Amino acid sequence: MSTKDTLTITDNRTGKTYELPIAYGSYPTYGAFIKSADLRQIRSSEDDFGLLSYDPAFMNTASTKSKVTFIDGDKGILRYRGYPIDQLAEKCSYLEVAYLLVYGEIPTAQELAEWSHQITHHTFVHENITKLMEGFRYDSHPMGMFVSTLAALSTFYPEAKNIQDEENRTKQVYRLLGKVPTIAAFCYRHSVGLPYVYPDNELSYAGNFLSMMFRVSERQYKPNPVLERALDVLFVLHADHEQNCSANAMRSVGSSHVDPYSAMAAAAAALYGPLHGGANEAVLRMLKEVGSKDKVPGFIKEVKEGKGRLMGFGHRVYKNYDPRAKIIKKMADEVFEITGKNPLIDVALELERIALQDEYFVKRKLYPNVDFYSGLIYQAMGFPVDTFPVLFAIGRTAGWIAQWQEMLSDPEQKIARPRQIYCGHDLRDLVRPKYKK
Ligand code: CMC
Repeated sequence: MSTKDTLTITDNRTGKTYELPIAYGSYPTYGAFIKSADLRQIRSSEDDFGLLSYDPAFMNTASTKSKVTFIDGDKGILRYRGYPIDQLAEKCSYLEVAYLLVYGEIPTAQELAEWSHQITHHTFVHENITKLMEGFRYDSHPMGMFVSTLAALSTFYPEAKNIQDEENRTKQVYRLLGKVPTIAAFCYRHSVGLPYVYPDNELSYAGNFLSMMFRVSERQYKPNPVLERALDVLFVLHADHEQNCSANAMRSVGSSHVDPYSAMAAAAAALYGPLHGGANEAVLRMLKEVGSKDKVPGFIKEVKEGKGRLMGFGHRVYKNYDPRAKIIKKMADEVFEITGKNPLIDVALELERIALQDEYFVKRKLYPNVDFYSGLIYQAMGFPVDTFPVLFAIGRTAGWIAQWQEMLSDPEQKIARPRQIYCGHDLRDLVRPKYKK
């Protein structure tokens, strides 16, 4: 670190020089920043508003300081609260990781027991939720139902709007983590016309979800332990990813101090898009369309010609192999031993092999991301393709909550309200256009 942590800027319009402080996050080589507001003193004249920074899509703008998740995209590193993702995936349950994300530390056995108890005892939904869901068309996309039902929860818990009350907030956290899998499973059951299966509080978080999805007439559903664990690991891998599109939506909408159900509906809506959490669904459709290994070179050629994207490849932050994709790829074999091999895995492996040695992908640093292999596992486990984004949302709930809580407790945060660069008309008088034949 230099002895003088400042940036000197000369405005050539005026010849004036400004010295702006440079500050740092945890790592001096990753996250040095200036405050954009410091640029406002740079003006070309007295009535000039001051210099803005222009950054569509936040390519180089930090919207917050955060202690939740660290990613080094060049090195392919992902850590929650300092812990490497591979250690968390190997050693922790999803509920443990959710606690870690929300409270910052791994829970003691007692804390975990209380946390799990509270979440498990908030898994049931009000009966009117099922009635509301019955109103959806039989072929509604599960994610559309999921987003709307999350928003509807705010009408069942009007006290949730007291977001400054910590105890009240905690109650909504239990409810969100408890009810999200129930709603997700109900979305699926509705879409296939099966009766809803109510939560079984004797089962684990992932086991109960599998039961609500797939139980038919058994007295008690017994999840396969390998599949139950695999699903739990997938939830861990999806639990947070710092300031991604949906976390940003959660924070941005939450910054208006709306209740967490409405903010999370916004986050889930952001996740739905094919460039974000909808990519896992898009990958499977793509693999099916490619169909066989011999069609891969032709498909890659079309992608390079700009006819569509190789879904599940590329990332705004990772310019290296997504560490989550590595873990999922390894886990696929364990799952396939139980379920039988998903035949599309061969197409996926061939796509990866060819893409990783093709100059187009190498030059742009495009590697498989979390969504490239996750869908193959979900499909092998029996989840229909359109439920994949909902599965992503279950895992991501913990991250959205952690990001939301951090935003609310950050004294530097205010209502999110970006500036714009106005490029439209100057003042003009209103004259109606003449009717043209
Ligand atoms: N296939 C082909 N070309 C691609 C791809 C892809 N999947 N991704 C990026 N590129 C090209 C893109 O055309 C551009 O090329 P050029 O410089 O010649 O114009 C260059 O790479 C940079 O792409 P970009 O769109 O500017 O990058 P971005 O950071 O805005 O987009 C992304 C990131 C994830 C939206 C993008 O890589 C993409 O669309 N990937 C496919 C969708 C996908 O898998 N999304 C899941 C992301 S991981 C889960 C999550 O966290 O949401």
